[in-house]
Amino acid sequence: MSLDTVLARIDADLPQATERLLNLLRIPSISTDPAYKDNCQEAADWLVADLASLGAQVEKRPTPGHPMVVGHIGEGAPHLLFYGHYDVQPVDPLELWDRDPFDPQIEETDKGKVIRGRGASDDKGQLMTFVEACRAWIAENGSLPCKITFFFEGEEESGSPSLIPFMKDNAEELKSDIALICDTGMFGEETPAIVTMLRGLLGEEVTITGPSKDLHSGMYGGVAMNPIRVLAKVIAGLHDATGRITIPGFYDGVPELTDELKAQWDGLNFDAGSFLGEVGLGEPAGEKDRSALEMIWSRPTCEVNGIKGGYTGDGFKTVLPSKASAKISFRLVGQQDPHAIRENFREMVRAQIPEDCTVDFHGHGASPAGQMETGDPAFEAARTALSDEWPQPAAFIGCGGSIPIAGYFKTILGTDAMLIGFGKDDDQIHSPNEKYDLTSFHKGIRSWARILDALS
Ligand code: BES
Ligand code: ZN
Repeated sequence: MSLDTVLARIDADLPQATERLLNLLRIPSISTDPAYKDNCQEAADWLVADLASLGAQVEKRPTPGHPMVVGHIGEGAPHLLFYGHYDVQPVDPLELWDRDPFDPQIEETDKGKVIRGRGASDDKGQLMTFVEACRAWIAENGSLPCKITFFFEGEEESGSPSLIPFMKDNAEELKSDIALICDTGMFGEETPAIVTMLRGLLGEEVTITGPSKDLHSGMYGGVAMNPIRVLAKVIAGLHDATGRITIPGFYDGVPELTDELKAQWDGLNFDAGSFLGEVGLGEPAGEKDRSALEMIWSRPTCEVNGIKGGYTGDGFKTVLPSKASAKISFRLVGQQDPHAIRENFREMVRAQIPEDCTVDFHGHGASPAGQMETGDPAFEAARTALSDEWPQPAAFIGCGGSIPIAGYFKTILGTDAMLIGFGKDDDQIHSPNEKYDLTSFHKGIRSWARILDALS
């Protein structure tokens, strides 16, 4: 067998591989919105059929939420597990899309060809990179070089509520020598990356209630407490003037970078100006004494993701609302304890609620940060394989985003996870006009073929 013939097959099959991805992208598998429940089933069915066409023993497995897809194929060591998610984020605001998010298309842009549509980068395009690598391998060699398990979930974008019980219940089946997760990005256009640090995520929804009903702001304004005013004050107090988060104990367990990591990151020459420039900004907004890369990879955050209250429609309405609410998320690093932070946050908010108001909290996901163990020789093998494919050598990087499952492979199954993905910073994941570069897809497939070759 030769890797070159597999790579040539991937090149020749790219139009068909792209067509298959477009078919998957046409299924609106939005996991957070119950209206799309059937579409999540449909996406899982699509994957089952596609993996079966490779010869995998594959099933759609029910969970209390959206189903998992688990497939096994090949024999021999090592046993590799591929993880990806087939669910996607909601598409709103729809009016900001230049096309129907679920009518994907290849578009020509000044940076080359892109696959445009919801889920193109996060995570259907990425997930299909290793499916296509396996397809090409089998087409050239008749079988795969080792045992592979595909493990695809449909709830990642809604916090993976079924994942822990499913992994516990199916631990024997899912144990492997290493888990490969394709849901992260590159370091710039030409530098592939292996993510070794991933931030955790904690979500809190706060609702403040003042008067028992909406009021006329002329009749009651000034005398009745306005819950938006209370909420705004709470939010304004979450950061101090230097950008530090003010919740008591928040920084417990936040480590300083080692000198080695600091030197490594300095060597990446991250250009904060152009990173922010791309999105119309110029000034890093985090803690004053930290570099932009630290702010994204190794420092915790507190961000308001949404805020609701009063009249927000067209025109003007002089209302003093009964309720105001905000969705607030925290990105966590190091050993920060999500549960302790939740409690301390709630305590701090409660202490600021005036006599006439009440506060309710609704907790969302709570996953700690993940630190990948890079001692396994698979890391160096994958780094070399990636460096062979791309113009620049592969980098070990951090990731500002969160993938709750990454840490659970270690804690539940005892398996190390390696995070390799081909997304770009400008893919607009979770936003209107999401895209995946055709080169990310093509070279991503080629990268997995090289990694498969290197690991087996
Ligand atoms: N693929 C992303 C994680 C990611 C984000 C990787 C940015 C690289 C750069 C993943 O699907 C995701 O969006 N995760 C959510 C967490 C989830 C619990 C909603 C996130 O990070 O907000
Ligand atoms: Zn994702």
